[in-house]
Amino acid sequence: TGHTTLDYGFVNTSATKSAITFIDGDQGILRYRGYPIEQLAQNSTYLEVAWLLIYGELPTADELAAFDERIRHHTLLHEDLKRFFSSLPTTAHPMSVLSSATAALSTYYESESDPNNPEHVELNTIRMLAKLPVIAAYAHKKSIGQAFLYPDNSLSFVDNFLKLNFGVLSELYEIDPVMSRALERLLILHEDHEQNASTSTVRLVGSTGANQFSSISAGINALYGPLHGGANEAVLEMLGRIRDSGESVQRFVERVKNKEDGVKLMGFGHRVYKNYDPRAKLVKESADEVLEALGISDPLLDLAKELEELALSDDYFRERRLYPNVDFYTGVIYKAMGFPTRMFTVLFAIGRLPGWLAHWREMQQDPQTKIGRPQQLYVGSPERNYPGAN
Ligand code: CMC
Repeated sequence: TGHTTLDYGFVNTSATKSAITFIDGDQGILRYRGYPIEQLAQNSTYLEVAWLLIYGELPTADELAAFDERIRHHTLLHEDLKRFFSSLPTTAHPMSVLSSATAALSTYYESESDPNNPEHVELNTIRMLAKLPVIAAYAHKKSIGQAFLYPDNSLSFVDNFLKLNFGVLSELYEIDPVMSRALERLLILHEDHEQNASTSTVRLVGSTGANQFSSISAGINALYGPLHGGANEAVLEMLGRIRDSGESVQRFVERVKNKEDGVKLMGFGHRVYKNYDPRAKLVKESADEVLEALGISDPLLDLAKELEELALSDDYFRERRLYPNVDFYTGVIYKAMGFPTRMFTVLFAIGRLPGWLAHWREMQQDPQTKIGRPQQLYVGSPERNYPGAN
Protein backbone atom coordinates (compact mmCIF):
# COMPACT_ATOMS: atom_id res chain seq x y z
CA THR A 1 0.00 0.00 0.00
CA GLY A 2 1.12 3.56 -0.64
CA HIS A 3 1.60 4.56 3.00
CA THR A 4 3.86 1.71 4.16
CA THR A 5 7.31 2.75 5.40
CA LEU A 6 10.09 0.21 5.10
CA ASP A 7 12.20 0.14 8.27
CA TYR A 8 14.40 -2.95 8.62
CA GLY A 9 15.14 -3.65 12.29
CA PHE A 10 12.75 -0.88 13.46
CA VAL A 11 15.61 1.61 13.41
CA ASN A 12 13.26 4.60 13.08
CA THR A 13 9.85 3.38 14.18
CA SER A 14 8.29 3.66 17.63
CA ALA A 15 5.70 0.94 18.13
CA THR A 16 4.48 2.27 21.46
CA LYS A 17 4.63 5.03 24.06
CA SER A 18 6.20 3.98 27.34
CA ALA A 19 6.75 5.62 30.73
CA ILE A 20 9.16 3.03 32.14
CA THR A 21 12.71 3.65 30.93
CA PHE A 22 14.51 6.63 29.40
CA ILE A 23 17.66 6.24 27.31
CA ASP A 24 19.74 8.95 25.67
CA GLY A 25 22.10 6.91 23.52
CA ASP A 26 24.26 9.85 22.45
CA GLN A 27 25.01 10.93 25.98
CA GLY A 28 25.01 7.46 27.54
CA ILE A 29 22.11 8.10 29.94
CA LEU A 30 19.83 5.39 31.36
CA ARG A 31 17.03 6.04 33.86
CA TYR A 32 14.32 3.79 35.26
CA ARG A 33 11.15 5.81 35.97
CA GLY A 34 13.36 8.92 36.07
CA TYR A 35 15.97 7.57 38.51
CA PRO A 36 19.56 7.40 37.17
CA ILE A 37 20.86 3.85 36.84
CA GLU A 38 24.03 4.80 38.73
CA GLN A 39 22.03 5.75 41.85
CA LEU A 40 19.86 2.65 41.71
CA ALA A 41 22.84 0.33 41.24
CA GLN A 42 24.56 1.92 44.22
CA ASN A 43 21.67 2.15 46.68
CA SER A 44 18.80 -0.11 45.75
CA THR A 45 17.92 -3.81 45.60
CA TYR A 46 16.66 -6.04 42.80
CA LEU A 47 13.18 -6.26 44.29
CA GLU A 48 12.92 -2.55 45.04
CA VAL A 49 13.81 -1.75 41.43
CA ALA A 50 11.38 -4.43 40.23
CA TRP A 51 8.61 -2.69 42.17
CA LEU A 52 9.68 0.68 40.77
CA LEU A 53 9.55 -0.61 37.20
CA ILE A 54 6.27 -2.46 37.62
CA TYR A 55 4.29 0.03 39.73
CA GLY A 56 5.96 3.31 38.72
CA GLU A 57 7.15 4.63 42.10
CA LEU A 58 9.65 3.49 44.71
CA PRO A 59 7.90 1.32 47.33
CA THR A 60 7.51 2.37 50.95
CA ALA A 61 9.36 0.15 53.43
CA ASP A 62 6.07 -1.65 54.21
CA GLU A 63 5.18 -2.16 50.57
CA LEU A 64 8.62 -3.57 49.84
CA ALA A 65 8.52 -5.90 52.84
CA ALA A 66 5.08 -7.23 51.83
CA PHE A 67 6.23 -7.69 48.20
CA ASP A 68 9.34 -9.57 49.31
CA GLU A 69 7.30 -11.75 51.68
CA ARG A 70 4.76 -12.60 48.99
CA ILE A 71 7.48 -13.57 46.55
CA ARG A 72 9.15 -15.82 49.15
CA HIS A 73 5.86 -17.69 49.52
CA HIS A 74 5.62 -18.51 45.84
CA THR A 75 9.09 -19.95 45.22
CA LEU A 76 8.14 -23.64 45.18
CA LEU A 77 7.79 -25.40 41.84
CA HIS A 78 5.17 -28.12 41.47
CA GLU A 79 6.90 -31.48 41.95
CA ASP A 80 5.65 -32.57 38.50
CA LEU A 81 7.35 -29.58 36.94
CA LYS A 82 10.58 -30.61 38.65
CA ARG A 83 10.33 -33.93 36.85
CA PHE A 84 9.98 -32.05 33.54
CA PHE A 85 13.68 -31.17 33.81
CA SER A 86 14.70 -34.82 33.76
CA SER A 87 13.01 -35.38 30.41
CA LEU A 88 15.45 -32.97 28.75
CA PRO A 89 18.99 -34.02 27.78
CA THR A 90 21.84 -33.23 30.21
CA THR A 91 23.54 -31.40 27.38
CA ALA A 92 20.55 -29.01 27.08
CA HIS A 93 21.54 -25.36 27.05
CA PRO A 94 20.20 -23.77 30.26
CA MET A 95 18.51 -21.00 28.20
CA SER A 96 16.44 -23.59 26.34
CA VAL A 97 15.60 -25.26 29.64
CA LEU A 98 14.60 -21.87 31.08
CA SER A 99 12.27 -20.93 28.24
CA SER A 100 10.68 -24.41 28.03
CA ALA A 101 10.06 -24.62 31.77
CA THR A 102 8.62 -21.08 31.76
CA ALA A 103 6.22 -22.05 28.97
CA ALA A 104 5.40 -25.19 30.97
CA LEU A 105 4.56 -23.08 34.04
CA SER A 106 1.59 -21.81 32.09
CA THR A 107 0.05 -25.29 32.14
CA TYR A 108 -0.20 -25.20 35.95
CA TYR A 109 -2.06 -21.91 36.08
CA GLU A 110 -4.32 -21.98 33.04
CA SER A 111 -7.46 -21.18 35.00
CA GLU A 112 -5.75 -18.22 36.68
CA SER A 113 -4.07 -16.59 33.70
CA ASP A 114 -6.64 -14.21 32.26
CA PRO A 115 -4.74 -11.08 31.09
CA ASN A 116 -7.89 -9.03 31.75
CA ASN A 117 -8.23 -10.14 35.37
CA PRO A 118 -6.11 -7.82 37.58
CA GLU A 119 -5.90 -10.41 40.37
CA HIS A 120 -4.54 -13.02 37.98
CA VAL A 121 -2.05 -10.54 36.54
CA GLU A 122 -0.86 -9.60 40.03
CA LEU A 123 -0.58 -13.22 41.16
CA ASN A 124 1.35 -14.28 38.07
CA THR A 125 3.68 -11.29 38.36
CA ILE A 126 4.61 -12.60 41.82
CA ARG A 127 4.79 -16.20 40.58
CA MET A 128 7.16 -15.29 37.76
CA LEU A 129 9.46 -13.28 40.05
CA ALA A 130 9.48 -16.10 42.60
CA LYS A 131 9.84 -19.07 40.27
CA LEU A 132 12.12 -17.94 37.43
CA PRO A 133 15.23 -17.91 39.67
CA VAL A 134 14.35 -21.40 40.92
CA ILE A 135 13.92 -22.68 37.37
CA ALA A 136 17.22 -21.02 36.46
CA ALA A 137 19.06 -22.66 39.34
CA TYR A 138 17.57 -26.06 38.42
CA ALA A 139 18.70 -25.58 34.81
CA HIS A 140 22.18 -25.00 36.25
CA LYS A 141 22.06 -28.00 38.62
CA LYS A 142 20.79 -30.18 35.82
CA SER A 143 23.67 -29.15 33.55
CA ILE A 144 26.21 -30.23 36.18
CA GLY A 145 24.32 -33.31 37.33
CA GLN A 146 23.61 -32.18 40.88
CA ALA A 147 20.46 -32.56 42.97
CA PHE A 148 17.96 -29.72 43.11
CA LEU A 149 17.65 -27.88 46.40
CA TYR A 150 14.42 -26.52 47.82
CA PRO A 151 14.27 -22.73 48.07
CA ASP A 152 15.25 -21.38 51.50
CA ASN A 153 12.67 -18.72 52.18
CA SER A 154 14.55 -17.35 55.16
CA LEU A 155 16.97 -15.84 52.65
CA SER A 156 16.74 -12.71 50.52
CA PHE A 157 15.96 -13.02 46.81
CA VAL A 158 19.60 -12.94 45.72
CA ASP A 159 20.95 -15.09 48.58
CA ASN A 160 18.30 -17.71 47.98
CA PHE A 161 19.31 -17.78 44.33
CA LEU A 162 23.00 -18.17 45.22
CA LYS A 163 22.23 -21.03 47.57
CA LEU A 164 20.04 -22.80 45.00
CA ASN A 165 22.92 -22.61 42.52
CA PHE A 166 25.93 -23.31 44.70
CA GLY A 167 24.56 -25.07 47.74
CA VAL A 168 24.94 -28.84 47.92
CA LEU A 169 22.49 -31.13 49.69
CA SER A 170 23.47 -31.85 53.30
CA GLU A 171 26.18 -29.21 53.34
CA LEU A 172 25.86 -25.84 54.98
CA TYR A 173 26.03 -23.04 52.44
CA GLU A 174 27.51 -19.77 53.60
CA ILE A 175 26.54 -16.67 51.71
CA ASP A 176 29.47 -14.51 50.67
CA PRO A 177 28.27 -10.91 51.10
CA VAL A 178 30.65 -9.65 48.40
CA MET A 179 29.20 -12.05 45.87
CA SER A 180 25.66 -11.34 46.98
CA ARG A 181 25.99 -7.56 46.63
CA ALA A 182 27.84 -7.87 43.30
CA LEU A 183 25.13 -10.10 41.83
CA GLU A 184 22.39 -7.79 43.11
CA ARG A 185 24.11 -4.85 41.40
CA LEU A 186 24.46 -6.71 38.11
CA LEU A 187 20.82 -7.81 38.18
CA ILE A 188 19.70 -4.21 38.81
CA LEU A 189 21.70 -3.04 35.78
CA HIS A 190 19.81 -5.52 33.59
CA GLU A 191 16.29 -4.91 34.86
CA ASP A 192 15.01 -2.88 31.94
CA HIS A 193 16.17 -1.41 28.65
CA GLU A 194 13.00 -0.13 26.97
CA GLN A 195 12.10 -1.69 23.60
CA ASN A 196 15.02 -4.13 23.13
CA ALA A 197 14.39 -7.27 21.08
CA SER A 198 13.24 -9.49 23.95
CA THR A 199 10.98 -6.84 25.51
CA SER A 200 9.48 -6.07 22.10
CA THR A 201 8.89 -9.81 21.73
CA VAL A 202 7.12 -9.95 25.10
CA ARG A 203 4.94 -7.01 24.05
CA LEU A 204 4.19 -8.46 20.61
CA VAL A 205 3.23 -11.86 21.99
CA GLY A 206 1.28 -10.21 24.82
CA SER A 207 -0.59 -8.02 22.36
CA THR A 208 -2.36 -11.13 21.06
CA GLY A 209 -3.86 -11.75 24.51
CA ALA A 210 -1.33 -14.42 25.47
CA ASN A 211 -0.66 -14.76 29.22
CA GLN A 212 2.46 -13.66 31.11
CA PHE A 213 4.12 -17.11 31.13
CA SER A 214 3.80 -17.55 27.37
CA SER A 215 4.88 -13.98 26.62
CA ILE A 216 7.92 -14.18 28.89
CA SER A 217 8.93 -17.57 27.57
CA ALA A 218 8.98 -15.97 24.10
CA GLY A 219 11.09 -13.11 25.49
CA ILE A 220 13.60 -15.59 26.92
CA ASN A 221 13.96 -17.17 23.48
CA ALA A 222 14.59 -13.76 21.93
CA LEU A 223 17.18 -12.99 24.59
CA TYR A 224 19.05 -16.23 23.87
CA GLY A 225 20.48 -14.98 20.54
CA PRO A 226 24.16 -13.92 20.51
CA LEU A 227 23.36 -10.41 19.22
CA HIS A 228 21.20 -9.84 22.31
CA GLY A 229 21.60 -11.45 25.76
CA GLY A 230 23.61 -14.35 24.36
CA ALA A 231 26.45 -11.86 23.86
CA ASN A 232 27.68 -12.23 27.46
CA GLU A 233 28.35 -15.93 26.84
CA ALA A 234 29.82 -15.16 23.41
CA VAL A 235 32.27 -12.63 24.92
CA LEU A 236 33.75 -15.21 27.28
CA GLU A 237 34.02 -17.73 24.46
CA MET A 238 35.73 -15.11 22.29
CA LEU A 239 38.23 -14.26 25.05
CA GLY A 240 38.90 -17.94 25.69
CA ARG A 241 39.47 -18.58 21.99
CA ILE A 242 41.92 -15.69 21.69
CA ARG A 243 43.84 -16.91 24.74
CA ASP A 244 43.92 -20.55 23.60
CA SER A 245 44.83 -19.84 19.98
CA GLY A 246 47.78 -17.67 20.94
CA GLU A 247 46.56 -15.11 18.38
CA SER A 248 47.55 -11.57 19.31
CA VAL A 249 44.83 -9.10 20.27
CA GLN A 250 46.00 -6.89 17.38
CA ARG A 251 45.53 -9.68 14.87
CA PHE A 252 42.09 -10.50 16.24
CA VAL A 253 41.01 -6.87 15.93
CA GLU A 254 42.31 -6.82 12.35
CA ARG A 255 40.15 -9.83 11.55
CA VAL A 256 37.11 -8.06 13.04
CA LYS A 257 37.81 -4.94 10.98
CA ASN A 258 38.21 -6.98 7.79
CA LYS A 259 34.97 -8.80 8.64
CA GLU A 260 36.83 -12.09 8.13
CA ASP A 261 34.38 -15.00 8.51
CA GLY A 262 31.86 -12.48 9.82
CA VAL A 263 33.76 -12.26 13.12
CA LYS A 264 32.59 -9.45 15.41
CA LEU A 265 33.93 -8.00 18.58
CA MET A 266 31.29 -9.44 20.88
CA GLY A 267 30.20 -7.16 23.72
CA PHE A 268 30.82 -4.11 21.54
CA GLY A 269 28.32 -1.88 19.77
CA HIS A 270 24.71 -1.09 20.49
CA ARG A 271 21.68 -0.06 18.51
CA VAL A 272 20.93 2.84 20.84
CA TYR A 273 24.19 3.76 22.60
CA LYS A 274 26.57 5.62 20.36
CA ASN A 275 28.63 6.46 23.41
CA TYR A 276 29.91 4.37 26.32
CA ASP A 277 27.04 2.21 27.65
CA PRO A 278 26.48 3.56 31.20
CA ARG A 279 25.90 0.01 32.43
CA ALA A 280 29.24 -1.13 30.99
CA LYS A 281 30.98 1.63 32.94
CA LEU A 282 29.51 0.33 36.19
CA VAL A 283 30.22 -3.31 35.34
CA LYS A 284 33.83 -2.52 34.51
CA GLU A 285 34.30 -0.89 37.93
CA SER A 286 32.69 -3.92 39.57
CA ALA A 287 34.89 -6.39 37.74
CA ASP A 288 38.08 -5.14 39.40
CA GLU A 289 36.44 -4.80 42.82
CA VAL A 290 34.75 -8.19 42.79
CA LEU A 291 37.70 -10.17 41.53
CA GLU A 292 39.92 -8.55 44.10
CA ALA A 293 37.45 -9.13 46.93
CA LEU A 294 37.00 -12.77 45.91
CA GLY A 295 40.77 -13.14 45.68
CA ILE A 296 40.69 -14.14 42.02
CA SER A 297 42.97 -12.96 39.26
CA ASP A 298 41.75 -13.84 35.79
CA PRO A 299 43.94 -13.27 32.73
CA LEU A 300 40.71 -13.02 30.69
CA LEU A 301 39.96 -9.70 32.45
CA ASP A 302 43.35 -8.35 31.36
CA LEU A 303 42.68 -9.60 27.85
CA ALA A 304 39.29 -7.85 27.82
CA LYS A 305 40.87 -4.58 28.93
CA GLU A 306 43.55 -4.88 26.26
CA LEU A 307 40.90 -5.50 23.61
CA GLU A 308 38.85 -2.53 24.76
CA GLU A 309 41.83 -0.19 24.77
CA LEU A 310 42.87 -1.25 21.30
CA ALA A 311 39.37 -0.96 19.88
CA LEU A 312 38.69 2.44 21.40
CA SER A 313 41.82 3.88 19.80
CA ASP A 314 41.05 2.41 16.37
CA ASP A 315 39.33 4.37 13.59
CA TYR A 316 37.09 1.45 12.59
CA PHE A 317 35.40 1.45 16.02
CA ARG A 318 35.58 5.24 16.46
CA GLU A 319 33.91 6.00 13.13
CA ARG A 320 31.14 3.53 13.83
CA ARG A 321 30.85 4.72 17.44
CA LEU A 322 31.27 1.22 18.83
CA TYR A 323 31.86 1.07 22.59
CA PRO A 324 31.72 -1.78 25.11
CA ASN A 325 28.14 -2.66 26.02
CA VAL A 326 26.75 -4.23 29.20
CA ASP A 327 27.79 -7.71 28.10
CA PHE A 328 31.51 -6.99 27.71
CA TYR A 329 32.63 -7.35 31.34
CA THR A 330 29.74 -9.18 33.03
CA GLY A 331 30.96 -12.64 32.04
CA VAL A 332 34.29 -12.20 33.80
CA ILE A 333 32.41 -11.45 37.03
CA TYR A 334 29.92 -14.31 36.64
CA LYS A 335 32.85 -16.65 36.00
CA ALA A 336 34.61 -15.43 39.16
CA MET A 337 31.40 -16.18 41.09
CA GLY A 338 31.53 -19.76 39.81
CA PHE A 339 28.77 -19.72 37.19
CA PRO A 340 29.47 -21.82 34.09
CA THR A 341 29.56 -19.83 30.84
CA ARG A 342 26.27 -21.33 29.68
CA MET A 343 24.50 -19.77 32.67
CA PHE A 344 25.45 -16.19 31.82
CA THR A 345 22.46 -15.42 29.61
CA VAL A 346 20.17 -17.07 32.15
CA LEU A 347 21.41 -14.49 34.67
CA PHE A 348 20.57 -11.78 32.16
CA ALA A 349 17.04 -13.22 31.90
CA ILE A 350 16.51 -13.07 35.67
CA GLY A 351 17.76 -9.50 35.56
CA ARG A 352 15.44 -8.53 32.70
CA LEU A 353 12.33 -10.24 34.10
CA PRO A 354 10.96 -7.18 35.98
CA GLY A 355 11.25 -5.12 32.79
CA TRP A 356 9.36 -7.74 30.78
CA LEU A 357 6.62 -7.85 33.41
CA ALA A 358 6.42 -4.04 33.59
CA HIS A 359 6.13 -3.72 29.80
CA TRP A 360 3.58 -6.53 29.51
CA ARG A 361 1.42 -4.79 32.12
CA GLU A 362 1.90 -1.32 30.66
CA MET A 363 0.80 -2.66 27.29
CA GLN A 364 -2.26 -4.38 28.77
CA GLN A 365 -3.31 -1.20 30.56
CA ASP A 366 -2.84 1.13 27.59
CA PRO A 367 -6.25 1.66 25.94
CA GLN A 368 -4.47 2.33 22.64
CA THR A 369 -2.85 -1.11 22.50
CA LYS A 370 -3.70 -3.08 19.40
CA ILE A 371 -2.51 -6.47 18.28
CA GLY A 372 1.07 -6.03 16.98
CA ARG A 373 0.98 -6.59 13.28
CA PRO A 374 3.83 -5.11 11.19
CA GLN A 375 3.35 -4.14 7.56
CA GLN A 376 5.48 -5.48 4.70
CA LEU A 377 6.44 -4.32 1.25
CA TYR A 378 5.48 -7.12 -1.12
CA VAL A 379 8.23 -7.79 -3.66
CA GLY A 380 7.05 -11.17 -5.00
CA SER A 381 5.50 -12.26 -8.27
CA PRO A 382 2.46 -10.44 -9.70
CA GLU A 383 -0.68 -12.54 -10.21
CA ARG A 384 -0.17 -15.61 -12.45
CA ASN A 385 -2.18 -18.66 -13.37
CA TYR A 386 -1.75 -22.16 -11.96
CA PRO A 387 -0.91 -24.40 -14.96
CA GLY A 388 -4.15 -25.39 -16.67
CA ALA A 389 -6.33 -23.24 -14.40
CA ASN A 390 -7.18 -20.37 -16.78
N1 CMC B 1 32.11 -5.74 15.99
C1 CMC B 1 32.49 -5.30 14.77
N2 CMC B 1 31.76 -4.49 13.99
C2 CMC B 1 30.58 -4.10 14.47
C3 CMC B 1 30.10 -4.51 15.74
C4 CMC B 1 30.92 -5.36 16.48
N3 CMC B 1 30.54 -5.79 17.70
N4 CMC B 1 28.89 -3.98 15.96
C5 CMC B 1 28.60 -3.25 14.87
N5 CMC B 1 29.63 -3.31 13.98
C6 CMC B 1 29.72 -2.61 12.69
C7 CMC B 1 28.82 -3.24 11.65
O1 CMC B 1 29.47 -4.27 10.97
C8 CMC B 1 28.49 -2.07 10.78
O2 CMC B 1 29.63 -1.82 9.97
P1 CMC B 1 29.46 -1.34 8.44
O3 CMC B 1 28.84 0.02 8.51
O4 CMC B 1 30.85 -1.37 7.89
O5 CMC B 1 28.57 -2.34 7.78
C9 CMC B 1 28.37 -0.91 11.76
O6 CMC B 1 29.21 -1.30 12.88
C10 CMC B 1 26.96 -0.66 12.27
O7 CMC B 1 26.48 -1.86 12.86
P2 CMC B 1 25.02 -2.44 12.74
O8 CMC B 1 25.11 -3.92 12.67
O9 CMC B 1 24.29 -1.73 11.63
O10 CMC B 1 24.42 -1.96 14.12
P3 CMC B 1 23.06 -2.46 14.78
O11 CMC B 1 22.55 -1.31 15.55
O12 CMC B 1 22.17 -3.07 13.77
O13 CMC B 1 23.55 -3.64 15.76
C11 CMC B 1 24.36 -4.81 17.64
C12 CMC B 1 23.72 -3.52 17.11
C13 CMC B 1 24.41 -4.77 19.16
C14 CMC B 1 23.50 -6.01 17.20
C15 CMC B 1 25.79 -4.94 17.06
O14 CMC B 1 26.58 -3.86 17.49
C16 CMC B 1 26.45 -6.26 17.42
O15 CMC B 1 26.25 -7.26 16.73
N6 CMC B 1 27.29 -6.32 18.52
C17 CMC B 1 27.88 -7.54 18.98
C18 CMC B 1 26.86 -8.34 19.80
C19 CMC B 1 26.61 -7.74 21.16
O16 CMC B 1 27.54 -7.40 21.89
N7 CMC B 1 25.33 -7.64 21.53
C20 CMC B 1 24.90 -7.14 22.83
C21 CMC B 1 24.12 -5.86 22.73
S1 CMC B 1 23.93 -5.01 24.29
C22 CMC B 1 22.91 -5.84 25.39
C23 CMC B 1 22.01 -6.86 24.83
O17 CMC B 1 21.06 -6.55 24.12
O18 CMC B 1 22.25 -8.01 25.12
